[in-house]
Amino acid sequence: MQHDRVWFGYGTLPGLLQSGTLIFKSSTIRGIGMSSSWQRAIIVGASSGIGEALARKLAQEGCTVALVARREQELIRIKEAIAAVGGCSTVPRTYVHDVNNTNAAANLLNEIAHDLGGLDLLIYSAGVMPLDPDDSYNTPADLSAIAVNVSGAIAWCNAAAERFYRQQRGTIVGISSVAGDRGRRGFPVYSATKAFMDTYLEGIRNKVGRYGVKVVTVKPGPVDTPLVEGLDKKKLPMLITSDQAAEMILHGMVRDGVLYVPGKWRLVMWLVRHVPSFVFKRLNV
Ligand SMILES: NC(=O)c1ccc[n+]([C@@H]2O[C@H](COP(=O)([O-])OP(=O)(O)OC[C@H]3O[C@@H](n4cnc5c(N)ncnc54)[C@H](OP(=O)(O)O)[C@@H]3O)[C@@H](O)[C@H]2O)c1
Repeated sequence: MQHDRVWFGYGTLPGLLQSGTLIFKSSTIRGIGMSSSWQRAIIVGASSGIGEALARKLAQEGCTVALVARREQELIRIKEAIAAVGGCSTVPRTYVHDVNNTNAAANLLNEIAHDLGGLDLLIYSAGVMPLDPDDSYNTPADLSAIAVNVSGAIAWCNAAAERFYRQQRGTIVGISSVAGDRGRRGFPVYSATKAFMDTYLEGIRNKVGRYGVKVVTVKPGPVDTPLVEGLDKKKLPMLITSDQAAEMILHGMVRDGVLYVPGKWRLVMWLVRHVPSFVFKRLNV
């Protein structure tokens, strides 16, 4: 069943941007050229969507990737697809893990780093988005979103921050969302988990940035992945493919800070953040 609420409900602003009234032509991104920066990476949430697309592109650039998620068959499918394409220096490794098992994260991160012969990059892309129609107040689903989007992110990013602090280099990338910029009636808890991620990653950035560690908060708009199955895709503004998202993320994450994907969302969300609450409350988002 499709969820008929406009996911972002900011149709007018993205519409203006898309129609050219306020267009920013982002340059076409070809050749990420980051292979020398990241040789060994862990992607948590690599079994589909954005995480899978990032894994494929990083591997093509010669990075050895460790694919982490619960669905082993999916991890194997992606590993075999990457190996079949070639171009990667080493076949990806797969690790079955449920991020709810927060106690295991630090040990697993260090075990993977040992297997890869070091670690330069952690990408936390695991996430869930329970759908919340007006008549649903599903506490178990909400708490499970907090477990994956918040507790899992803390466990993995803390473990990476500690390791990178010790080695005085490394990059942590957290996949947050534009959804974190306002509390939305469509997804109160999902929005809140992403707002948490934004603030948490900013704090980690400020904590380890001075020791040569980069922390990037990625805030995509809608991306066509299994996460948005059940939503009416025609109503998702500026919907992009996971490949496009991955390309923009890899291009943008060479810099520390907050990365909107596509970049047009930075202006849209700046405007949305300034909509007064009494107006925002009336919007169908
Ligand atoms: N798609 C969008 O429009 C959009 C927009 C903004 C931000 N995002 C964010 O982007 C990130 C990636 O989402 P996506 O769109 O690529 O969705 P997706 O295709 O559904 O991917 C979600 C990933 O999270 C993993 N995951 C979920 N629960 C897990 C658990 N308990 N333990 C380990 N891994 C778990 C899944 O793997 P397993 O199920 O195999 O465990 C899967 O690899 C999420 O944080 C999402 O909030 C997405």
